Amino acid sequence: MATKKGDRPYVIANWKMHTNLADALLLAEGTKNSIAEIKNINVVLCPPFTWLYPIIEHWRHKPSNLSLGAQDMHWEDSGAFTGEVSPMMLKGLVKYVIIGHSERRFHFHETDELVNDKIQAAVRHNLVPVVCVGERKKNMGQDSESQNTGKVDAPTQLVKALEGISANEAKKIIIAYEPVWAIGTGEAATGDYAARMAMQLRDRLKFLYDEEIADEIPILYGGSVKSDNVSEFTGQEEIDGVLVGTASLKLNEFLKICRMVAESVR
Ligand code: PGA
Repeated sequence: MATKKGDRPYVIANWKMHTNLADALLLAEGTKNSIAEIKNINVVLCPPFTWLYPIIEHWRHKPSNLSLGAQDMHWEDSGAFTGEVSPMMLKGLVKYVIIGHSERRFHFHETDELVNDKIQAAVRHNLVPVVCVGERKKNMGQDSESQNTGKVDAPTQLVKALEGISANEAKKIIIAYEPVWAIGTGEAATGDYAARMAMQLRDRLKFLYDEEIADEIPILYGGSVKSDNVSEFTGQEEIDGVLVGTASLKLNEFLKICRMVAESVR
């Protein structure tokens, strides 16, 4: 595992709608204390919105390779959108924001157009969007036949997500390839499968922008990543980090994953 621009690989934790305040502070504190010694990775914790400010207050000082991210956001700066959180509110609290997670696309009917609006809003506000794409069924997009089924495949999702995003803006984006069939199922993709998909995604980036820019954009793998299988992905040159859900909620397991990613950096 090595990002093309020689950057540190990412380990992004998506806590989803889990934790109470006490759990959140314990996880955040434990991560902070250990990450200070694991210098060659970028760790991003994405807790529920309500714990962002308490974590910042609790941390006070934190290592520079540890950051916070949000799990989603609205695309407007403000307005009559009951229950929503805007980029203006997140600015200053987080550096990253997950956009287009498959759970948002599925449960909340987020479309490619809406995902694109959110990405545009994130870059406008200097937030780094972690753009999630992934096919619903295994083997989709792995062969030319599946391109003609009319079903969603990750490269097509990516092209739609990045519509209107300039080359300069694209350089600030992170992509998370997350096959939906692997999320929360315990059945991760193999390293080879994920690397082939990452390669396809990078080819689309080359087509949209150019080779240099495509090589600069980190592509992570997500979907049932745990310490038992993370070496599948750390062994892949094409993959620049991991997005971890379930396994990020157990401190020791999460730190183990972080250490394994850090050790893989060549
Ligand atoms: P999981 O979740 O690790 O529990 O599969 C990953 C994600 O949804 O980002």
